[in-house]
Amino acid sequence: MTPRPIIIDCDPGQDDAVALFLAMSSPDELNLLGITAVAGNVPLALTELNVRIMCDVADRRDIPVFAGCDKPLRREAITAEYVHGKTGIDGMDVFEPDTPLQEQHAVDFIIETLLQAGKAPVTLVPTGPLTNIAVALKKRPEIAENIEEIVLMGGAMREGGNRTPSAEFNIIADPHAADIVFNCGRPIMAFGLDVTHKVLSTEARVQRIADLGNNVSDATAGMLSFFHRYDTEKYDSPGTPLHDPITVAYLLRPDLFKTKYCNIAIETESELTMGHTAIDFWYVSGREKNAYWGYDVDADGFYELLTERLARF
Ligand code: RIB
Ligand code: CA
Repeated sequence: MTPRPIIIDCDPGQDDAVALFLAMSSPDELNLLGITAVAGNVPLALTELNVRIMCDVADRRDIPVFAGCDKPLRREAITAEYVHGKTGIDGMDVFEPDTPLQEQHAVDFIIETLLQAGKAPVTLVPTGPLTNIAVALKKRPEIAENIEEIVLMGGAMREGGNRTPSAEFNIIADPHAADIVFNCGRPIMAFGLDVTHKVLSTEARVQRIADLGNNVSDATAGMLSFFHRYDTEKYDSPGTPLHDPITVAYLLRPDLFKTKYCNIAIETESELTMGHTAIDFWYVSGREKNAYWGYDVDADGFYELLTERLARF
């Protein structure tokens, strides 16, 4: 089977880092063409550095890394150091990586890769604010036909928001970009807090990863132990939601998930509900369906997959 060509667009972020490791662990299934960084959890200068650190940790210095947009399309940038720590990857030592940063802007890499995709359309896997993807679509709309699918982490329905009562971080960080992406006309698979809040990194699950004893599992266990503290306190839960690796897990094992084709619309006017994902799960709006919404997951199956794959390093 030919590995599926993908680009991961991310804002590491401990959970983005684990998504990168999961993708890198599966070269027979996923051909990671490049990794693009966007401003999000922490500023761009840190997210691109953190991507390159993960490439070093995974001994994948061959993967091209690109820096993209350093602020949202229209709104002021927001960050989440209170969750991820000052570095964005607190819980592991930060170092100057060997993996180089490519000269080319991430948006131009995405455009060029899609324009050249020809008979092998590319799957985009955004796990941060959607700014890079939206700018690429606005700059060269013709790239859309070479997007196989967009499998993203973002949004919330039953869970409510994690940045405001109405909005999840990735979407409210750049709601105008999210609006562009959800209306691009290509197949979209969206995993939000309704699924990610079901995959909690409990101490037992983190310990099983720590017991693997390789560089990647050590970094993962360290980051998850740090990442654990904020959400467990906020939600009084036995572990922190492991958001971003859900996207890659879906590409590897779609059978672990339940999804439903719906209309998903983004609030871009009201300050009170800015960035809200209005998900028409019961088809009451009459709006045209435009995306699949993930609403359930086999959490044990997800952690078995993650642990088995991290053992490969
Ligand atoms: O709301 C969770 C999402 O926002 C995750 O992708 C996390 O990394 C942050 O980007
Ligand atoms: Ca992220």
